[in-house]
Amino acid sequence: MEFNIALVKGDGIGPEIVDNAVRVLEEVGRQFGHAFRCKSYLAGGCAIDACGQPLPQETVDGCLASDSVLLGAVGGPKWDGLAGDVRPEKALLKLRSVLGLYTNLRPARLYQALRAECPLRESTAEKGFDLMMVRELTGGIYFGERGHREGKYGPEAYDTEAYSELEIRRITKVAFETARKRRKKLTSIDKANVLDTSRLWRKIVHEMAADYPDVTVTDMLVDNAAMQLIRDPSQFDVVVTTNMFGDILSDEASQITGSIGLLPSASLGDTKRGMYEPIHGSAPDIAGTGKANPIATILSAAMMLRYSFDLQQEADKVEAAVDAVLNAGWRTADIVGSSGASPLTGDEMTDKIIEALRK
Ligand code: IPM
Ligand code: MG
Repeated sequence: MEFNIALVKGDGIGPEIVDNAVRVLEEVGRQFGHAFRCKSYLAGGCAIDACGQPLPQETVDGCLASDSVLLGAVGGPKWDGLAGDVRPEKALLKLRSVLGLYTNLRPARLYQALRAECPLRESTAEKGFDLMMVRELTGGIYFGERGHREGKYGPEAYDTEAYSELEIRRITKVAFETARKRRKKLTSIDKANVLDTSRLWRKIVHEMAADYPDVTVTDMLVDNAAMQLIRDPSQFDVVVTTNMFGDILSDEASQITGSIGLLPSASLGDTKRGMYEPIHGSAPDIAGTGKANPIATILSAAMMLRYSFDLQQEADKVEAAVDAVLNAGWRTADIVGSSGASPLTGDEMTDKIIEALRK
């Protein structure tokens, strides 16, 4: 089969990790007889430098015309001084919004091979964990009304959190369906003791629970969730939450896997077209040094195979190759830890994964 992929490499380590993921896709294509036709588009800081805006129309059109988008990361200190609506991050937010990608799936699991890198207590790490965070991606405080005004204490800035019933309903549906295919446990995370949006969120989740009697639902306040994630992450299966809570908790979840360099994500909407990206940032401090771990992006490409292209076997094979390489003791700089392994560069790690795919 043939697939058109829009590559949005972005800034910092973005280009190197996307190039590595493309090499893995090419190998999958060779083995299974698929053609992945990739075309690169600018977004983020590089787009600001090249054409004065973070998300050129050509990029939007290219992504809309593609079967799916693979994104590296955007941003860096060079563009930090810019106003909010022309910052590199705006490109990412706009892309999510124009592509209608309201669902963000962020799986986090502890690889047995990396147990020693898990910062949690040995007895907790021993239990392992495997959770799927379902983060709402195109609503909430990220997209609410904002601005500057004269307040009680003088000039102030404000951002607002708003959620419609429709937005809550559609993300909750994805979460229930996801739980149904896994261990049938859903934790809905909110701040219903304080926020009206959370109380509405909770009400809708409870209403919808009636349609999924096979799924056990628990509500959890976000502050408690932040604590439970480090106390005993094995209690979670599927987690559903708002845009901002999901942003924060997914970084926390990544750290307990050993490294943020391991976590992929899929952003999905109502069509097969998705956007796939590592959950980490552009790490400008290590760009070009070979230290960037390509695994999160390679696993994001595997999610693309699974969710956008329905290539389950191919996705399984990529994930198994990553497992095999980690089990064999190969490490990038971020996951060397106490293993004593000498770190591979991102390119070398990719070579190992491709070798494992060939076995
Ligand atoms: C993420 C990132 C983005 C977000 C930033 C770069 C806008 O942190 O994908 O988690 O907050 O969504
Ligand atoms: Mg984030």
